[in-house]
Amino acid sequence: MASPFDVLRVDPEASEEAIEQAYRERVIEAHPDHGGSPEEFQRVRTAYKQLQAGYEPEVDTEPELEDEESYEQAGSRVEYLNYAVLDDHGWDLDDDDLFGKAAAGDLDHEDYGEFLVEPHESLLEAAENRGFMWPFACRGGACANCAVIVKEGELSMPVNNILPPEMIDQDIRLSCNGIPVTDEMQVLYNVKHLPELEELRLPPRPFEQAYPGD
Ligand code: FES
Repeated sequence: MASPFDVLRVDPEASEEAIEQAYRERVIEAHPDHGGSPEEFQRVRTAYKQLQAGYEPEVDTEPELEDEESYEQAGSRVEYLNYAVLDDHGWDLDDDDLFGKAAAGDLDHEDYGEFLVEPHESLLEAAENRGFMWPFACRGGACANCAVIVKEGELSMPVNNILPPEMIDQDIRLSCNGIPVTDEMQVLYNVKHLPELEELRLPPRPFEQAYPGD
């Protein structure tokens, strides 16, 4: 719907004088005697009254809705990196270019790559559904085996009975119930080997059986 500024064809930052001048021109133009119509004439008068009354443009929330719709429709593209390979390459967890180095690092597909997470798939489910064996144990928010570090994007975490607030602040999340809520994500998986997570782990599950050296 056109705003009063659109109807009067003035910039929203226009001065009162400029708005009045625009109104004078538009009201003549819109008058039925000058080629306009009663409806258009009334529209111009209403727009001017709205501006005189201190019209405030409504906050446009559409871009956010579009983002949500885009994620809801297309899912999230997740770029992943196995935490266990960092030491081998001398890479640092806090390196801003960590994923750039990984992309150029000729790593195995299970250690680095990307996949699409369907809407409402958890990150762990998505990895498993694409043939990967990421670590987990309880699948219920009660251990740190499935922990990941989110470097870019957001992972919701509906169930968490284990990670304290300081770990959440370090962007550590649980992949077993975490659902990507942004179009793009970068995650380090297999971060259960971080010293601070050691006491939060349960006995290992299939990942260790598949990759006993990790
Ligand atoms: S596997 Fe235990 S919290 Fe995810």
